[in-house]
Amino acid sequence: MLLTIENLHKSYVAGGIETAVLRGISLTLERGESLALMGESGSGKSTLLHLIAGLDVPKSGQITLDGQIMSEPSDSKRAERRRHLVGLIFQQFNLIPSLTVAANIAFQAQLAGRHDPVWCTQLATQMGLNAHLAKYPEALSGGQQQRVAIARALAAKPALVLADEPTGNLDEDTAQSVLALLLEITRETDTSVLMVTHSAVHARALDRQMTLRGGIIAQ
Ligand SMILES: Nc1ncnc2c1ncn2[C@@H]1O[C@H](COP(=O)(O)OP(=O)(O)OP(=O)(O)O)[C@@H](O)[C@H]1O
Ligand SMILES: [Mg+2]
Repeated sequence: MLLTIENLHKSYVAGGIETAVLRGISLTLERGESLALMGESGSGKSTLLHLIAGLDVPKSGQITLDGQIMSEPSDSKRAERRRHLVGLIFQQFNLIPSLTVAANIAFQAQLAGRHDPVWCTQLATQMGLNAHLAKYPEALSGGQQQRVAIARALAAKPALVLADEPTGNLDEDTAQSVLALLLEITRETDTSVLMVTHSAVHARALDRQMTLRGGIIAQ
């Protein structure tokens, strides 16, 4: 099993009041498997992705990714594991404006000490970005920017891609083609995907679907 989540609890404290967001989440994901995460706004989808990525720690429960504990208390150990195991894709693309497309794609792989120029070139070709490599993100359309963000997330060959509404800012046709490219490359490379989406149509393109409701998995 690539990812195992056991009885995960997370709450936030605001104004002295503790609110439970995740109330006992357990799930597993096999290597190469894709899972769509649905649920109403505020149901805790991004919270769950942040915990899996080790960007935050749970109140209790454990997250194991490729044999590494992602719910580990040390920030630096979580960051190290994230660099080696996780590719992140966000709704807002989050490209670095001062770097070219080529440099954006290579950036995180370089940070992780796993830059592979041949793989980066192959990714750029597959994502249809070869004509744009010397440009800056501001000169690209939303769909092109998100394809750069996907290439960047895959450049370091992560075991798991976490995508938080990756097509939420794209028109429907662009969204479909970007999602198809993401799933094509992750299937070819046996990379697991956990993707948050509000679209039941997009969710059906993945191997499994689940819904968060009331802090637990509803289905
Ligand atoms: N850093 C934080 N501090 C306090 N409360 C937070 C924090 N982050 C999220 N929350 C609260 O936790 C709940 C879940 O938020 P989360 O962002 O995980 O929802 P979501 O399912 O991703 O929603 P959306 O579909 O709108 O993106 C919300 O009630 C939110 O207000
Ligand atoms: Mg969210």
